[in-house]
Amino acid sequence: MVSRKWVLPVVSALIFLLAGGAFADDVLVGSCIYKFDDTFMTGVRNNMNAGAAELGVELEIMDSQNRQPVQNDQVDTYITKGVNALILNPVDRTAAGPLMEKAKAAGLPVVFINREPEADVMGAYDKTWYVGARAEESGIQSGELIVDYFKNNPKADKNGDGKIQYIMLKGEQGHQDATLRTEYSIKAIKEAGFEVEELGSDTANWDKVQGTDKMKGFIAAVGLDRIEAVLANNDDMALGAIEALKAEGYNKGDAAKYIPVVGVDATAPALAAMADGSMLGTVLNDAKNQGLAAIRIAAVSARGEVPNKENIGYEVTDNKYVWIPYVKVTIENYKDFMQQ
Ligand code: GAL
Ligand code: CA
Repeated sequence: MVSRKWVLPVVSALIFLLAGGAFADDVLVGSCIYKFDDTFMTGVRNNMNAGAAELGVELEIMDSQNRQPVQNDQVDTYITKGVNALILNPVDRTAAGPLMEKAKAAGLPVVFINREPEADVMGAYDKTWYVGARAEESGIQSGELIVDYFKNNPKADKNGDGKIQYIMLKGEQGHQDATLRTEYSIKAIKEAGFEVEELGSDTANWDKVQGTDKMKGFIAAVGLDRIEAVLANNDDMALGAIEALKAEGYNKGDAAKYIPVVGVDATAPALAAMADGSMLGTVLNDAKNQGLAAIRIAAVSARGEVPNKENIGYEVTDNKYVWIPYVKVTIENYKDFMQQ
């Protein structure tokens, strides 16, 4: 005789099956994130999980620990396991080619996120997509934050030479976001009619601690008095630079001891730093919509459909690209982005 404790689960499983739940749900998506210990990508990851729950698809996510060989093995494991689609955030952008080849050989849809593969990789397999944001846009917007500050505060040109003396903290070398944000932020400042002088520029690999270290080095090398602005390719590095400034008594509320610092991402700690006045501004890198778009493309393509505006809710450019817009975050609108 069947024991009573089994009756309820068995009956509810039957109802679930009859309602078609199990049939709609049998999609398994395998994902790799370049490293879990990255503030912005953690936001994307959380939103992929939320989206998967909403869609009723199963999603597994592995930490590639910032090592490409580890990630390659993880992708092999997913393929052997029989996943129905892949969402990949390459450790090394230039490794996207071999990853695409693995997916292609297995006939699996592959959605790249955040680290954009070269166009020839994207073009070599019809089941390849990319979800990301136009890095140029974030560069321009962060440059504009500095422009507006200098327009409204002529004394920010501390030595009165008509030039903006700045420090640049860059993301990982080879990352499109690092290259383009660096280039376009400065371009935007120049296009607004300001002259610039670079006092120092180095990579801090998207990392807060490295941002602090590099900033301390620049402060020691050029002197705090000469620095008029700090541009960082992301918020973690901007917050790292702010730590270094605070250690010198700067950006703590004394208007005479303030250097404008801008970042990109609009992470919760960056918005908090805007609220307390230590950070000038940032640019929303929309983790929510990037995460949702990625999981929706994976789910739809795993079921054999072609992702489009109707079935995923996002415009698909050239049948391959979903571009999520950046948004400039200033003291006027930063509250709108809190608790995202
Ligand atoms: C950028 C983001 C950085 C970092 C990087 C990882 O888009 O601004 O904070 O997360 O991606 O690839
Ligand atoms: Ca100056």
